[in-house]
Amino acid sequence: MALTDAKKRLGQYYTPPHVVASLTKWLVRDRTDSLLDPSCGDGRFLEAHRESTGVESCESSWRAARERAPHATVHHADFFQWALRCEHRFDAVGGNPPFIRYQHFTGKTREMALALSRRLGASFSQLTSSWAPFVAVAAGLLRPGGRLGFVVPAEIGHATYARTLLGALCAHFSRVLVVAVRHKLFPELSEDTWVLYAEGCGGKTDGVDLAVVDRFDCSEAPPSASRRVPVSEVTRDGARLRKHLLPPAVLGLYERLSADPGTKRLADVADVSIGYVTGANDFFHLTLRAADLWGVPRAFTRVAVRRGEQLPPRVVDEATVEEWLRSDLPVLLLALPPTGPLPDGVRRYLDSAEGREAGRRYKCRVRDPWYSVPGVVVPDAFLSVMSGKETALVQNLAACVCTNSVHTVRMRNGEAFGKLQEAWCTPLSRLSQEVEGHPLGGGLLKLEPREAGRVVVPWGGLALNRQDLDVLLEGIDFARQWRHVA
Ligand SMILES: C[S@@+](CC[C@H](N)C(=O)[O-])C[C@H]1O[C@@H](n2cnc3c(N)ncnc32)[C@H](O)[C@@H]1O
Repeated sequence: MALTDAKKRLGQYYTPPHVVASLTKWLVRDRTDSLLDPSCGDGRFLEAHRESTGVESCESSWRAARERAPHATVHHADFFQWALRCEHRFDAVGGNPPFIRYQHFTGKTREMALALSRRLGASFSQLTSSWAPFVAVAAGLLRPGGRLGFVVPAEIGHATYARTLLGALCAHFSRVLVVAVRHKLFPELSEDTWVLYAEGCGGKTDGVDLAVVDRFDCSEAPPSASRRVPVSEVTRDGARLRKHLLPPAVLGLYERLSADPGTKRLADVADVSIGYVTGANDFFHLTLRAADLWGVPRAFTRVAVRRGEQLPPRVVDEATVEEWLRSDLPVLLLALPPTGPLPDGVRRYLDSAEGREAGRRYKCRVRDPWYSVPGVVVPDAFLSVMSGKETALVQNLAACVCTNSVHTVRMRNGEAFGKLQEAWCTPLSRLSQEVEGHPLGGGLLKLEPREAGRVVVPWGGLALNRQDLDVLLEGIDFARQWRHVA
């Protein structure tokens, strides 16, 4: 079934029956237990238990829930507005909160969501997706001893705000369990989905239990945890639960090698940053033919890497650039100084209909002058932001610049790029890229600059035996299976 935009905007993905059955069986232990689903959709969690209450903001879903679970109390409301006034406390809260990314989770709803989350001690930033405040605020509506069970996006394993949520849950529940599920619970979604359980509301725990399973099967009890991750390992800067999916032998070796004096983090030897943002890429990048037609002098352009796919495997050199220009790719960035006179050809191009249209775009409007793109640097190398099987770290021998579709890499303290490129391709570093980056769905691995900065690179004097190498290769395979890349 194709998902409409409205459905995506509201995060309307309904939970498969076996997951609803498993979660509700665990959440409610007695016929009289009260259950709250804070975003009940068509009411499938409510249907499973008589004493249930649901909240739903979408009118048609709310109607569907009332029809499906006539025994339940179903409120047509925004959950956070409703929670503010709710004095009742529940034995159990659960369901599948909407996954609305922070760019769309805005306005009064977000304001209220973040304010109410602070009641549980969860101070989320503005960059938080909706699901985490849903869980935190619902947790705040439990009675002492109450239980919580939610389907959650797999980003609970790596998002910055997941650390905030898990830390708050550990401070308010005697047990917190995350079930990482490799095979998709929602085949139509690109993001993976895991399951979160917490019990003993009012207590506290010093660690998150982690169960690692291939599939989520129907059962009354959650799968058994195979690891316990101390709270400090979940909440400290840069920490992520996802790393603990690795088989213990792989994780043990990875931790040992990360602390070895023969390794460094990428940030110790190079600066990684995002490339420039034009606000109107099609206008700001010309082909050689277009630049000639408009009379834009080459001195007012820079050759740019616009996207990762444009990169050859190891080096961008003069021959690469010549090939781009011969193929008439639009790779000439209009690189104009903020002050000083502009040639007639450039003026004509800026005054064209396309130029006037570009000048009205948000990013252009908010800079002065609108046509001078900031942050254009010539890095030592380019690093792919999103990668398939392998990341690409490509030397820049042609003084090219790049958009924010690739990262800039600049060596620090006179370190040699060749040494980094060699280190980057080793099994240790490739495993580290999997551990410190995060899956984006569709098999892609994303490395944000901060994540890239944490990647471990062997930096002289690291001795690995055959067995170590095998363990690292096993770790790479394992991590790639979890991000669904062959
Ligand atoms: C992922 S669906 C899950 C529905 C149901 N709990 C299930 O598991 O099948 C999330 C639901 O949250 C609803 N929703 C989105 N924002 C909401 C809000 N602020 N308050 C209440 N419901 C909301 C959406 O309309 C959608 O039906």
